[in-house]
Amino acid sequence: MRLFVAVFPPADLLAGLRREVTAARVGQRVRLTPVERWHITLAFLGEVGSERLPDVVDALSGVKSPGAITLRMSGGSSFGTGRATALWAGIDGDLAALGDLQGGIRSALAASDLPHDDRPFTPHLTVAYADNAAVRGALTEHAGPTWTAEEFVLVHSRHTEGGGYEMLRRWPLG
Ligand code: 2AM
Repeated sequence: MRLFVAVFPPADLLAGLRREVTAARVGQRVRLTPVERWHITLAFLGEVGSERLPDVVDALSGVKSPGAITLRMSGGSSFGTGRATALWAGIDGDLAALGDLQGGIRSALAASDLPHDDRPFTPHLTVAYADNAAVRGALTEHAGPTWTAEEFVLVHSRHTEGGGYEMLRRWPLG
């Protein structure tokens, strides 16, 4: 099963971002990912055998919480080129606490011999896998309100099989 660990911003803030991006892309051929999937990845495990799911849950249950984290979406840009481009909204706020959480999660996974990506942590929220200047412009200008992240989530991604995201387990940060 394809797994990752993430923080999900509140739906109303995502809807606000989506409105701005949608207004910018009128008449353009660029497909956004479904707004209910928009998230900030903290760790990407990739394919993990389902027999190891209890180990993943145990490892994440041992992560020390930095407490609730104040965040906001601010600015944005793209990674990659051509069809491999990801257009994303940037994340601002208490990035030290978010980085502590992300580091704690990766360490906990590694200590249990579970996989995780080694990407340098650039907190972001991907809205489309496409390259489009108008959308990038809207993301660059976006400045959302602050919110308090109160949990992180273990997610099963079924989207390569044509499904959505299944929230397997949530851990409170407060
Ligand atoms: P992205 O938003 O930068 O594309 C679910 O696929 C989540 O895991 C996405 O947020 C995606 O990041 C991230 N992800 C997918 N493949 C990854 C990889 N090889 N390394 C790190 N993160 C990855």
